Amino acid sequence: MPAKPSHNPNDLSFPKILDNSDDTSNFSCGKKEIDEFIQKQAFSFQQQRLGITYLFHQGADLVGFATLCMGHINKHKIAAHDRLTQHVNSYPALLIGQLGVCNGQQGEGVGTYICDFCFDRAIRLSQRVGCRFLVVDSLESAVKFYSKYGFTLAPKQEKEKQKLMFLDITKRQPTPGGQPTDV
Ligand SMILES: CC(C)(COP(=O)(O)OP(=O)(O)OC[C@H]1O[C@@H](n2cnc3c(N)ncnc32)[C@H](O)[C@@H]1OP(=O)(O)O)[C@@H](O)C(=O)NCCC(=O)NCCS
Repeated sequence: MPAKPSHNPNDLSFPKILDNSDDTSNFSCGKKEIDEFIQKQAFSFQQQRLGITYLFHQGADLVGFATLCMGHINKHKIAAHDRLTQHVNSYPALLIGQLGVCNGQQGEGVGTYICDFCFDRAIRLSQRVGCRFLVVDSLESAVKFYSKYGFTLAPKQEKEKQKLMFLDITKRQPTPGGQPTDV
C-alpha cells in the first residue's frame, strides 16, 4: 500500500518525549479518558516504564501525542487470511496505547503524521527486536481513521467497547521523506 503524504512535517516540531517540564494540563482532544490520561497519568505511567509518551508541537502549542509500549497480537484474534505462515501463536507488535489530536487541529493531517511516526518507530524497532505489527485498541469513533491509515479491524468484536486493529508493517511503504530521527 503506498503511504500518502501526511501533515507537512515542517509545521510540526520533532516529537519530544514527555518530561516533568511539560505542561499537558490544557490538552483536550474531546475524549475524556484520553484527556485525563495525558493531563494526569502519562508522566507517572512513563516513570514506571509502562509507556513512553511523544508530544507533537506546533510552535509552542501541544497539538497531539502518542503513547507507545510493547505489545503482541494473538494469531487467533485475526482472520485466517491475515495470519503469518510461521507457526507461532503470538506475533510481536508495537502498541499505540494512547493517541490524541487537540480539538482545534483535528482533520488537518496531524493524526496521520503521528501514525507515520508510530509506524516508523515500529520499523526501526523491528530492525533490533522482533516486531511485525503495529496495533491499537481503537475507540469506536476512531475506527474509520485507523482504517484509512491501513489498519485492519480484527473480527468478532461487535460487543467490545474498544476495537483491536492491526497493521502488518511489512505491507506498508515507509513514509515519503522519512520521519524525525532524533528521538
Ligand atoms: C482520531 C484522531 C486521532 C484523528 O486525527 P486527525 O488529525 O483528526 O486525523 P487526520 O486529519 O490525519 O485524518 C486522516 C483521515 O482520516 C479521516 N478521519 C479522521 N478522524 C476520523 C473519524 N473520527 N472518523 C472518520 N474519519 C476520520 C479524515 O477525514 C482523513 O480522511 P481523508 O484522508 O480522506 O481526508 C483525532 O480526531 C482525535 O484525537 N480524536 C479524539 C481522540 C481519539 O479518538 N483518539 C484515538 C483513540 S484510539
